[in-house]
Amino acid sequence: MNLEALEPQARDIIRRYDQRRAAVLPLLWLVQENFGYVSSEAEFWVGRLVGIAVSHVREVVSFYTMYRTQPAGRRELRVCTSLPCVLRGAEGVLGRLKQRLSIGPGETTPGGELTLTEVECLCACEIAPMAQLDEQFVGPLDGASLEALVREALRDPKASGQIQEPQPFIDTSGPVLSTRFKDPEGTWLDAYVADQGYVAAKKALSMTPAQIIDEVLRANLRGLGGAGFPTGRKWSFIPKDNPKPKYLVVNADEGEPGTFKDRYILERDPHALLEGMLIAAYTIGSHKAYVYIRGEYFRPAKRFQRAVDEAYARGWLGKNIQGSGFDLDVVVHRGAGAYICGEETALLSSLEGGKGFPKLKPPFPAISGLFQCPTIVNNVETLACVPFILREGAERFAALGTPKQGGTRLFSVSGHVNRPGLYEAPVGVTLREMIDKHAGGVRGGRRIKAVIPGGISAKVLTADEIDVKMDFDSLMAAGTMAGSAGVIVMDDTTSMVEALQSAVKFFAHESCGQCSPCREGTGWVNRIMHRIVEGQGRLQDLDDLLGIARAMEGKTICVFADAAAWPIQSYITKFRAEFEEFIRTGRRVPQEVAECRP
Ligand code: FES
Repeated sequence: MNLEALEPQARDIIRRYDQRRAAVLPLLWLVQENFGYVSSEAEFWVGRLVGIAVSHVREVVSFYTMYRTQPAGRRELRVCTSLPCVLRGAEGVLGRLKQRLSIGPGETTPGGELTLTEVECLCACEIAPMAQLDEQFVGPLDGASLEALVREALRDPKASGQIQEPQPFIDTSGPVLSTRFKDPEGTWLDAYVADQGYVAAKKALSMTPAQIIDEVLRANLRGLGGAGFPTGRKWSFIPKDNPKPKYLVVNADEGEPGTFKDRYILERDPHALLEGMLIAAYTIGSHKAYVYIRGEYFRPAKRFQRAVDEAYARGWLGKNIQGSGFDLDVVVHRGAGAYICGEETALLSSLEGGKGFPKLKPPFPAISGLFQCPTIVNNVETLACVPFILREGAERFAALGTPKQGGTRLFSVSGHVNRPGLYEAPVGVTLREMIDKHAGGVRGGRRIKAVIPGGISAKVLTADEIDVKMDFDSLMAAGTMAGSAGVIVMDDTTSMVEALQSAVKFFAHESCGQCSPCREGTGWVNRIMHRIVEGQGRLQDLDDLLGIARAMEGKTICVFADAAAWPIQSYITKFRAEFEEFIRTGRRVPQEVAECRP
């Protein structure tokens, strides 16, 4: 195999995009899938095909964590060490793997069988502690499943049987989305249509865009990626008199530690997303939609592509959809390992074939987004709710929620609960109900110490702050945020010092490096927290950490630096005595925590 042999495939890929340069990431994936890594020669080849300098291709390759520039093992084992996995014993898992494989992270076994990589959250926190072997998620990892994983990892992938992906417990009783999550193999077009699928799209195609926007506004649908902006209002910002093409971009770059909801929609009910996309695209006058799926989501991307192919084959995508005269093409685009691409302008930079650098706003994407054209970026769950609204009526959706936020949410619950999993509930459910009723309460009957209500960026709540409703406004009033609805529960065995260390490690790893306060600040706090955890902390470190957090907040192009500052502020403020005690005694691991580890 040489690069020239890949040219027909490469040209097919380039044709899907409205600008050639946007094909950089998929072309790099094509190279890596065929050669195992991206060589300098391949960087030149990609640059020549899309008409950009090799230096630009090289900076893209180096920005994303999933591209390799050297030959690696025949298989890759990625071990997650973000907070939800740490709470369930990830450090013990990594230690055991190092011992069994006799290599450390970043190294390959002497026979070239396996490369071991330490990664941040893979958004499968419900099966924590977990890992990913090549494309497959594996977890929860304990003594027996860890041994099975080691045996499997050292086999030749071509000769070995596939290990099964786990089927975690999920609640399918929710009225809007999860009712169709029952089949772990997914809900496909015939079953979807039999269950009132595409009824809403048919109705929408006979309405005016203004009528659809009005319906979505009355439903009180808010952006469920985390920002909570009213969806109908966002759609209304698309200028009607702009002659440029309009784009719909779906943010499926799920990456917030503690969150795994969009994965279930992509895998188990992909047509709900496609139907929502069709309605949204029709409303904003877009004939091209891109779905940006995080690079580590191999199976979700394959399943979603299968749904796209089905929709084309049955006239729900392509030209003159169902005789309506409306055209829509959908391109499934995979990221390559960069949390920051979940930020909408960073996602657009990445989709344009560059590093995932956020852009200054204004202009907002609705005015100048993808390829400088009017663009709406919506989250997967947000769009998947739209068919329900058009089918069942705005009032019914609104009535499920609170006065200012309609509907339900998919809550991802991880950490120290009896039943980590995905739960759909009205947005006004309280955090306590979510933990006690839905997730089965705290593991081992222990007491709650702290809860993060909306993904790792959200400020932490203490045990006596969890009688709060989980809609955007109530959690904001409580001094934190609903974010991505990723609930991370910590029981009374948790060291808040180590929990913060895990959080700041994540932010230091994922800062895109564009703004100095963020690039330097996340590095400083990570080094200080590392020193504290190693027993070398000073009491002054706590005020230094708060000072650095203050210097990061509100000083950068995007809110990543703010998100990195919030955990520092809330953990230290709410648990200061514990931090001081940790520093004074130099105690590395509280005894109770050590006992919990495998
Ligand atoms: Fe490990 Fe999310 S998958 S923390």
